[in-house]
Amino acid sequence: MRVYAGHPRLNVKWLRLSSLLVTLLVASIHGAPTMTTDRRILQGKWVNPCGLALTDGDPDGDVPQLNDAQLLSQVVIQAKTALMHAEIFRDDFLNKTFRTTFAKIHSDWKMYRYSWLPSKQDIPKELNEPLAKEDLEKLELDKALLDAYTYMQTFAVGLEQIVWDQNDNDSEFHKQFADTEFKLRTVLCELQAALVERGVKPRPDVTRAVMGADIRGYKDESTRSVRDWVIFRDYMNGLEYIIQVFEYLGDRLRS
Ligand SMILES: *[C@@H]1O[C@H](CO)[C@@H](O)[C@H](O)[C@H]1NC(C)=O
Ligand SMILES: *[C@@H]1O[C@H](CO)[C@@H](O)[C@H](O)[C@H]1NC(C)=O
Repeated sequence: MRVYAGHPRLNVKWLRLSSLLVTLLVASIHGAPTMTTDRRILQGKWVNPCGLALTDGDPDGDVPQLNDAQLLSQVVIQAKTALMHAEIFRDDFLNKTFRTTFAKIHSDWKMYRYSWLPSKQDIPKELNEPLAKEDLEKLELDKALLDAYTYMQTFAVGLEQIVWDQNDNDSEFHKQFADTEFKLRTVLCELQAALVERGVKPRPDVTRAVMGADIRGYKDESTRSVRDWVIFRDYMNGLEYIIQVFEYLGDRLRS
């Protein structure tokens, strides 16, 4: 974390602090017993995850800038943290929601995908499986960062709906999924920092429109539970993908 101090182009230390403040603010809004604001019009947590003022231009050039390999290792570290967090409650969630094990639920629903989530072409691996060498070899850094950012924003849209539904129903796993949204935001922030640092023009942010009203409004609890599993599964697979991709690209930079 120290290495960020006096970051020449964007002061990541400061933006992390402001990101934390946003988090606390959101947490306190969230905890309020009555909330009258229509939550659907609030800006998604996946938009500008670092809370950057994009005009930042700190000319302080004394402190070494993070090089690309360091930026990528920050992405990997946060993705690992997010994945570990998800894995800690994954089995308990499946046990209590489906009364079954991870192995069973994973094989039962393995073929089931949502077309609005990243496809098998986008993330060419399944959960707990490695990426093929040829998929790693054709990666290009800036495109990989942009793709990862878009994929993670898309998962954030799905996770938000899960958390909304669980909040409405006082679900036992509400807190874990709400924390998941913030872990994901941290990963997005590292990706955003790498994109800004490398001067890559961002794509338009993913919007809530990607997730259809029909999928949001499932009335049947078991249908909704499967939906939640598929989103959560693909999110974890997305994190595994990010870890493998940016470890690989980091090694390539260092070699
Ligand atoms: C669910 O968890 C309970 C309590 O730990 C355990 O006894 C039970 O075997 C688990 N069920 C499955 C299907 O894994
Ligand atoms: C909440 O639970 C009730 C009763 O089980 C169910 O009818 C309703 O669809 C649930 N709503 C959400 C958003 O989870």
